[in-house]
Amino acid sequence: MIRIAVLLSGRGSNFAAIHQAIAEKKLDAEIVAVISNRADAPGIARAKDWGYRTFIFDNRRYASREAHEADVLRALDDTKPDFIVLAGYMRLLSPAFVAKYRGRILNIHPSLLPAFPGVDAQAQAIIARAKKSGCTVHFVDEGLDSGPIILQREVDVQPNDDAESLSARILEQEHIAYVEALKKLAKT
Ligand code: GRF
Repeated sequence: MIRIAVLLSGRGSNFAAIHQAIAEKKLDAEIVAVISNRADAPGIARAKDWGYRTFIFDNRRYASREAHEADVLRALDDTKPDFIVLAGYMRLLSPAFVAKYRGRILNIHPSLLPAFPGVDAQAQAIIARAKKSGCTVHFVDEGLDSGPIILQREVDVQPNDDAESLSARILEQEHIAYVEALKKLAKT
């Protein structure tokens, strides 16, 4: 049984997929904390409904990145996760944070990395007329979407796709990929 802390800033559909896999006993894990920098993140509302321990640290109320991260790190010290799962967390982690949890922080990105790192990866794929795209679950290092890859799932880009339709097709695969990646880690 692995202990997971989820960090999110928005919708939380990847968090919901992980929650569901655990509830259906497809993933042997426990979500010990859901941490957000946004009090109004829909993902936080879901976490409360499902009875998880939630923490809100609004970064706009802190004087520095370090001060904000100190509170996040305290919540992690308190809840002792094995893995930290970034699920639409719109904050970069400092090198000190990454160093403390090296090999234990996961992110999901909506492209086949190393292609299209950074923001708007799905739109980048459309503009580049990529034939295939997909998603990548990877460990977080100090770079932008650059850490060791755990797994990827592909989707075809259709000729009539726009960023929105491609995002929706990739998102279905994200939900499968994150659970698969965590299953892999739960076994090792
Ligand atoms: C996903 O597209 C993920 O790849 C990216 O942010 C989005 C989060 O979606 N990092 P959700 O909040 O999990 O629904």
